[in-house]
Amino acid sequence: MTVTRPPAEAPASILVVDDDETVADVLNHWLSAAGFEAAVAPDGETALVSLGRVLPDVVVLDLSLPGLGGLEVLVRIKSAMPRLPIIILTGTSDVETVVAAMQRGAHDFLTKPVDKQKLLSTVGRAVDHYRLSERVAELQRIDGGDGFPGIVGRSTAMRQLFRQMERVAASDVTVLVRGESGTGKELVARALHDHSARKKGPFVAINCAAIPESLQESELFGHEKGAFTGASARHSGRFEQAQGGTLFLDEIGEIAPSLQAKLLRVFQERRFHRVGGTQEVQVDVRIVAATHRDLLAEVEAGRFREDLYFRVAVFELEVPPLRDREGDLPVLVGHLLRDLEKKHHKPELVLEPQTLGLLATYGWPGNVRELQNALERAVVIAMDGVICPEDLPRRIAERRETRRPASAATGVDPGQGRGGGESPITSGTEVRDGDAREAHAEPPEGVGREAARTPTKMIELERQAIVQALADSRGNVSEACRLLGIPRTTMYRKLRRHGLRAEE
Ligand SMILES: Nc1ncnc2c1ncn2[C@@H]1O[C@H](COP(=O)(O)OP(=O)(O)OP(=O)(O)O)[C@@H](O)[C@H]1O
Ligand SMILES: [Mg+2]
Repeated sequence: MTVTRPPAEAPASILVVDDDETVADVLNHWLSAAGFEAAVAPDGETALVSLGRVLPDVVVLDLSLPGLGGLEVLVRIKSAMPRLPIIILTGTSDVETVVAAMQRGAHDFLTKPVDKQKLLSTVGRAVDHYRLSERVAELQRIDGGDGFPGIVGRSTAMRQLFRQMERVAASDVTVLVRGESGTGKELVARALHDHSARKKGPFVAINCAAIPESLQESELFGHEKGAFTGASARHSGRFEQAQGGTLFLDEIGEIAPSLQAKLLRVFQERRFHRVGGTQEVQVDVRIVAATHRDLLAEVEAGRFREDLYFRVAVFELEVPPLRDREGDLPVLVGHLLRDLEKKHHKPELVLEPQTLGLLATYGWPGNVRELQNALERAVVIAMDGVICPEDLPRRIAERRETRRPASAATGVDPGQGRGGGESPITSGTEVRDGDAREAHAEPPEGVGREAARTPTKMIELERQAIVQALADSRGNVSEACRLLGIPRTTMYRKLRRHGLRAEE
């Protein structure tokens, strides 16, 4: 199998946790001067909440911290990001603490006062160690062929998301999934669950926006018999239903202000009371939340508790809008049409080239969900399975003035499907302006009309998607499978079908 080297590596980022400002400043200065990106947290709480934003390669952690102690912080970081190396800082006399820290998974230790060369070499080794372990984990995952099935994406933006999901999926850390509506937030939440140790446990979702304020408490926490009129029996809430698994708190920005304090307590202690109950209930649940809102702005506006925000946003995942996923559109269209073929019992759905051109250059404010709806509507209207521009919603089909430049978003060559190169790996991923314009224009009368009417068959779209995925993965079949969200067996079948060869 071909193993491709990762792209040129970004500078390693180091999180320094020390309450002594002078020490923190000096370490920060040394690390920055040596080419690391350093961030400083003055205490354990701040360190924990900034993990998701800093995404450090290494943490340098002082063991004697005010508030949450160093060992406790160590344990919590380890449970959130098990592979992340932590180098502890201690006074010379703390042999027992050093031993305790090493037993809890510290990677190495430095004694104060810190020696500059020793710091830089220890941090450098830890960075190499971490990057190698990440790479090994990635290769194991690709070899296992699992990836994130069902999440299609080959764009830089989506790969970045996958990398972050990999970092956090296996742990129990609370994750906030942010993204515009229809970007796939729930899909991401489910994938995190499916890749965690809790995957055999339940995945329970609750959409806070869909439940009136007055019912939110009993939906989340359940109620006792007789707690209110109509409560004829005890009812367990979503937290209890998710016991041993993952609770997905969708649209957490819509949680009633009156409930936020109760929720904070569950985030902290996993304990609550059912409505009307006196006995405390304890649960073991991993929480993944989602919002389309800017929660920090909600905090600033006084609608969302700040302390709750910091508990929710321990690790943030940003799902990019479709317009920023360069190159994803044809693959997504292929994937969604395959689903629609099954759902509507159509043997083969076909796109006219113009249709693809229109899809490729639309801005998709409603993201993947809007694309899915537009295609489904088109499939229903186009009874014969050939989807023409007229079958698309008017806002997509009738754009003449508001055309976006072809290079803006999708990287689709609307001329695809008219053949393609001989070699399995072509470089035809850029958009050529001329082609894109052609694809928008009305089919010219007479000349060219025939060509414009030739349907882009799904099979050709599929070939193009495979060729692009192989090009992107530099011929690495496992990686291409992951990008396309298909198993290897399917890939090999398809390669044969299209007469493509791939390096192994
Ligand atoms: N990358 C993707 N690959 C395949 N299907 C996707 C992808 N992203 C989203 N979808 C599909 O698009 C639809 C919308 O996704 P999802 O419900 O996860 O989005 P959301 O961000 O939660 O949307 P909303 O804001 O409307 O709740 C789903 O049917 C999902 O399966
Ligand atoms: Mg959703």
